[in-house]
Amino acid sequence: MPGKFVVFEGGEGVGKSTQSRLLAEAMRARGLEVVTTREPGGTPGAEAIRAMLLDKDGLAKDGLGWGARAEALLFAAARADHVERLIRPALARGAWVVCDRYLDSSRAYQGGGSGLEDADILTLHRIGSAGLLPDCTVLLTLDPAEAARRVEKRDAGALDRIGGRAADYHARVAAAFRRFAEAEPERFAVIAANGAPEAVHVRVLAAVDSLCA
Ligand code: TYD
Repeated sequence: MPGKFVVFEGGEGVGKSTQSRLLAEAMRARGLEVVTTREPGGTPGAEAIRAMLLDKDGLAKDGLGWGARAEALLFAAARADHVERLIRPALARGAWVVCDRYLDSSRAYQGGGSGLEDADILTLHRIGSAGLLPDCTVLLTLDPAEAARRVEKRDAGALDRIGGRAADYHARVAAAFRRFAEAEPERFAVIAANGAPEAVHVRVLAAVDSLCA
């Protein structure tokens, strides 16, 4: 039986990587093989693209960063490598894949945040990754002020070049994520990310069990 593909989505500082880890541990305790990964990245080729995209001291510092279209193509290229070399083979051998961010981040950031058409981002995904979608997408939501406090604590002011964009950009990203979840309730679970990580994990596990059963 093919494995399940679970993705965590949401803005910066909502706890996606902590929740990915806790979910993977819970699934492993059930005897399943679980591959944890992240985007952009997850394979050497995609990590190389990540380093270019998120380098806050790189081209962007000199005003030479990519525009939204080139950026969307780079995210799609990183994803194509990740899907082909890591995600599809893992699913094919029956493993679960738990991924921190995926296509809906491109739709929310390059689409909602930067203004590209959703249909265009989906076309890039069809070309790059044959349109592979998660079985279940967990959208973690958190009050922006609390998320900002968590990011400050984690990164101590060293935001990457996308994380460091203005508050109105991040508000558009958050609104886009909410729209996607409303449009596809069979694929999305919207989980409040406030409270202790263990408490959030209990909510996540219940949602994954019901969506991925
Ligand atoms: P990361 O350090 O993983 O951020 P976070 O801890 O918030 O998940 O950096 C990923 C950044 O890249 C984040 O700001 C979101 C952005 N991003 C896009 O703009 N488009 C995408 O398709 C993906 C996967 C990420």
